[in-house]
Amino acid sequence: MKILVLGGTVFLSKAVAVEAAARGHEVTCACRGTSGSVPEGARHVVLDREAPDWSALETAYDTVIDVARHPSRVRDAVATFPSAHWVFVSTVNVYSDDSIPGGTPDTLPLHDPITTDEDPMASPEVYGAMKVACEQIVREGAATSTVIRPGLIVGPGDPSGRFSYWPPRVADAGEVLAPGSPDDPVQLIDVRDLAGWIVGCAEHRTDGTFDGTGHITTRGAFLDEVSRGVGTRPQWTWLPQEFLVEQEVDPWSGDRSLPVWLPLPEYAGLMAHDSAASFAAGLTTRPLADTARDTLTWLRDDPDSTTTGLSREDEAAVLRAWHSLGE
Ligand SMILES: NC(=O)c1ccc[n+]([C@@H]2O[C@H](COP(=O)([O-])OP(=O)(O)OC[C@H]3O[C@@H](n4cnc5c(N)ncnc54)[C@H](OP(=O)(O)O)[C@@H]3O)[C@@H](O)[C@H]2O)c1
Repeated sequence: MKILVLGGTVFLSKAVAVEAAARGHEVTCACRGTSGSVPEGARHVVLDREAPDWSALETAYDTVIDVARHPSRVRDAVATFPSAHWVFVSTVNVYSDDSIPGGTPDTLPLHDPITTDEDPMASPEVYGAMKVACEQIVREGAATSTVIRPGLIVGPGDPSGRFSYWPPRVADAGEVLAPGSPDDPVQLIDVRDLAGWIVGCAEHRTDGTFDGTGHITTRGAFLDEVSRGVGTRPQWTWLPQEFLVEQEVDPWSGDRSLPVWLPLPEYAGLMAHDSAASFAAGLTTRPLADTARDTLTWLRDDPDSTTTGLSREDEAAVLRAWHSLGE
């Protein structure tokens, strides 16, 4: 198949190009090339979607895989390749209520679309609403389409530094601050599993809208899997979210955060999607321990790799504050 990846130099779109080339497809990656290089086996065509000149590309592809956030970029690309099957990578941020566990694309409410180009970094709501508009453009303009709404994407090459806090921290073992409760829901997907499924959707011209998330697990099982992957047995100290808030520890991501931790109940649904339909449509996922092990290897081997989250000093200070309460 002739596959056009709009991207290919970063994390997910790069993993998609790697997977498609490995399966023997003819892969073209169209992007500026400023974020990195396209993988071996793929052809790079320079394209700036802010002022696109499509003339260096062929006139038709079997599939286009797009990760864009700006409606005008998707509108322009769909109009250029209307006969292709489109796999559009959206996000679970399209949903307007993050508190509902067990939701699916059929049950969860969406943001009203933002059809203009705004700054997608402005807020998760703006980003999600722009993706709603992008999805609509794809569904209305492409010959056939798969729309995939990933949750947290993790694994080697992750530029966000969120999940990647945990493998090195757990590898160092000792007393590890575990946020919230061992029963809190956690849900994520390895970038390579998502990429494999995206290429499969391209191959089968899968029709529909799916959440791109793995199985729901608990935070206790999540940390146990990370420790299995990195080969240590830390001592977990579980701190309730109220105490973490008092200590000014941030959720999700950032320098003073405990990544992948979300306040409850307001985010009870964000990492608790019912993705049975995605698995029925061909998604398969590897053990989280494998993702943790490979992420640690990437962090140790690649000087450009990144993590975020509490420093060891700050973690120790929060633990001391907790123990000083006699806990
Ligand atoms: N990370 C998560 O946990 C998460 C969760 C849910 C959904 N998502 C979605 O998953 C996708 C992630 O995609 P990704 O990992 O490939 O990273 P990305 O940052 O979304 O995409 C980057 C690609 O777009 C290209 N690009 C950026 N600006 C461009 C321009 N002006 N013209 C042409 N190409 C341009 C970049 O290439 P150059 O810069 O080299 O041009 C790069 O190859 C996104 O759709 C995101 O919304 C992510």
